[in-house]
Amino acid sequence: MIISKTTRCRGEITVPGDKSISHRAVMLGALSEGTTEITNFLQGADCLSTIGCFRKMGIEIDNTPERILIHGRGLHGLSAPSGVLDAGNSGTTTRLISGILAAQPFETVLTGDSSIQKRPMRRIIEPLSMMGADITSVNGNDCAPLRINGAPLHGIHYHSGIASAQVKSAVLLAGLYADGITRVTEPAVSRNHSEIMLKYFGASVNTEGTTAAIEPDPVLKGQKVNVPGDISSAAFFIAAGLLIPGAEVLIHNVGINPTRDGILRVAKAMGGNITYLNVRHDGEPTADLLIKHSALHGTVIEGDIIPTLIDELPVINVMAACAEGTTIVRNAEELRAKESNRIDIMVDYLKAMGCDITGTKDGMIINGGRPLHGIEIDPHMDHRIAMSFAIAGLVADGSTAIAEDDIVSVSYPGFYDELRRLTN
Ligand code: S3P
Repeated sequence: MIISKTTRCRGEITVPGDKSISHRAVMLGALSEGTTEITNFLQGADCLSTIGCFRKMGIEIDNTPERILIHGRGLHGLSAPSGVLDAGNSGTTTRLISGILAAQPFETVLTGDSSIQKRPMRRIIEPLSMMGADITSVNGNDCAPLRINGAPLHGIHYHSGIASAQVKSAVLLAGLYADGITRVTEPAVSRNHSEIMLKYFGASVNTEGTTAAIEPDPVLKGQKVNVPGDISSAAFFIAAGLLIPGAEVLIHNVGINPTRDGILRVAKAMGGNITYLNVRHDGEPTADLLIKHSALHGTVIEGDIIPTLIDELPVINVMAACAEGTTIVRNAEELRAKESNRIDIMVDYLKAMGCDITGTKDGMIINGGRPLHGIEIDPHMDHRIAMSFAIAGLVADGSTAIAEDDIVSVSYPGFYDELRRLTN
């Protein structure tokens, strides 16, 4: 994809449904009794991988553009898949499903693409094994493929070393099948969509500070889930709206759950002009966001806010590159364990575009305000890297060529069309 510098960014946009919430709706729908109806489901490759895995385990799923119907079979209704389960590029599918598979009365092998086969799985193997799971990395490298032999599970209190919703959710989902209460304490609160949705489907979940606890063996009942727009997808249009002179963008129906809204808090701290309109609080909070071009300045991003914007840091880096002054990101070592090593890739390519940026072990230091120029980008099979550099390309001199056109469809099919519509 070729992206050229633009002086126009105007209009209204509705971003696709939230990826995290879409995954969870399929999983809980499958484990519930009765039918779950999901609207505004993200038809991205990652969520389709989750659907594919549950279909292979005997769950009937009708996927139409208007809605998804999951014909749930209850907590104990999954059947052994005929072959390997394929999570594609999706870490959420791999890690959350592992928590469910750990308790099933059959063996499964779970794998994914070459990116997923390099991502760390020790973080779920460890707590699930503590619960009694029989889960091994087939190649002995703590990555997928994983062989999971269902076993009886015990409730544990797991103290996680990382604030990871995927780890927390894997343990809580396994906790549905445990012999007592399962607790997870994390160093800072990660996204809490699992806790919210588990309760909505009928599980008994309690949260206190950084600890979430679940009681075993609930009767989950199929529900209607209307998925809010994904703030992680809105992030690219938030950045475009803030950075392009004269820009004004209205983004409809964005999820603003406080465990996900770090980008909005950081953008405001950088001087960003963002207005919340039409705020709604039914289940997951949502708002329409009005974004206007703003003169941004640097800021410090560290500590407990990191998990609330972890997926947005690549595009926040682009904002920082265009802001006056210094932005420092700390405590974000998790960026190295995403679909790609997002610290090294952002630093290398932003530097090549002309930015004064230095990588650190857990973040980066960006002295913003230097002009950027277009280069060629290899996204390394990372959708958010591709989309972040598409935004950089809109403000860089010349043109920016981004390879792997299809990779954006992992989380945002149609991204380039929407970008063109707003900026041409
Ligand atoms: C996700 C959790 C986060 C996030 C990922 C989606 C989820 O990962 O980066 O895109 O849906 O639970 P970690 O749990 O590894 O932080």
